[in-house]
Amino acid sequence: MKVLVCGGAGYIGSNMTDMLTKSGHQPVVFDNLSKGHKTAVKNAEFVRGDLADYNLLVETFRKHKIEAVMHFAALIEAGESVELPLKYYHNNFCNTRNLLTAMEDAGVEKFVFSSTAAVYGIPQDIPIVEGTRKLAINPYGESKWAVERMCQFQRATGKLRYAALRYFNAAGAGAGSTLGEDHSPETHLIPLIIQAAMGKRADIKIFGTDYPTDDGTCVRDYIHIQDLCSAHLLALARLDDETELVYNLGNGTGYSVRQVIDVVKAVSGKDFSVVETDRRPGDPPVLTADASKVIGELGWKTQFPQLETIVETAWKWHNENPDGYPD
Ligand code: UFG
Repeated sequence: MKVLVCGGAGYIGSNMTDMLTKSGHQPVVFDNLSKGHKTAVKNAEFVRGDLADYNLLVETFRKHKIEAVMHFAALIEAGESVELPLKYYHNNFCNTRNLLTAMEDAGVEKFVFSSTAAVYGIPQDIPIVEGTRKLAINPYGESKWAVERMCQFQRATGKLRYAALRYFNAAGAGAGSTLGEDHSPETHLIPLIIQAAMGKRADIKIFGTDYPTDDGTCVRDYIHIQDLCSAHLLALARLDDETELVYNLGNGTGYSVRQVIDVVKAVSGKDFSVVETDRRPGDPPVLTADASKVIGELGWKTQFPQLETIVETAWKWHNENPDGYPD
């Protein structure tokens, strides 16, 4: 299938592009390179463009005979979204509205959307099932939920077939550890701890030690990037028969910030300084997934559920690419 991968130069998008190519699809990457890396795009056509550019989107759909869209192009920092809510609504909601408009006008129906566990806010029951109330506690999560709602209504017109995949914490490096995580600035826990282990930063800071968890630090469900991407392939195929798919993507196992630090210390064999600081705004205490719906309905199987394996792949990539991607 010819798939437009919006945000295909980013961490998740580049891994997805690689997997699409290896699975016999023909991805075309559409990315404005505001966050992504051109060098992370391998074996795929590349269009430099912004989702605000309606004309370029329609032209790209027509020129490449695009049959489906996977959409990874979004701002992702919950903390920043609390400071700059309008930036998040603009990028994550308005630009996706533009993308869906261009899809409708070009007659492209299939849409796989990167949603997030952040749509749930602070859920009452853990692990989280898809039907849990959506009460995001930051504009990031709310902007993604607004897109999901827009997809529900657009699907009801008969012009959209969509999958909303709610990611828990994507981590690790894919494609034999050749496609890694390189954000600027980096805000994600595992790459930051690895940088501390590599001596590239003075310490790792724990944001909050007074959460209602066993060791007082936040608990997250880390999912290997390749496992995350494989669910997208299954969802894309299922859109031949279904018009609406909504799934959590996680392993169902939670690790606290302290536990993740211990795993990085064990995998790397390095010791480094750990500093306890205040909570970061917009962080729920515990997010773990009940992914039984996607397992049951799509037959999703994870290949790398162990946090040790996830960290090993990330550690390998960071050591082989100590300065990240060259661009
Ligand atoms: N953390 C620290 N120190 C740091 C960085 C992070 O203690 O230096 C903590 C955070 O407070 C949080 C946990 O580590 O408790 C994980 O933080 P990340 O920033 O790595 O990830 P988030 O859980 O905030 O968010 C990630 C993605 C979102 C996605 C979300 C879904 O960035 O896009 O997972 O759960 F929506």
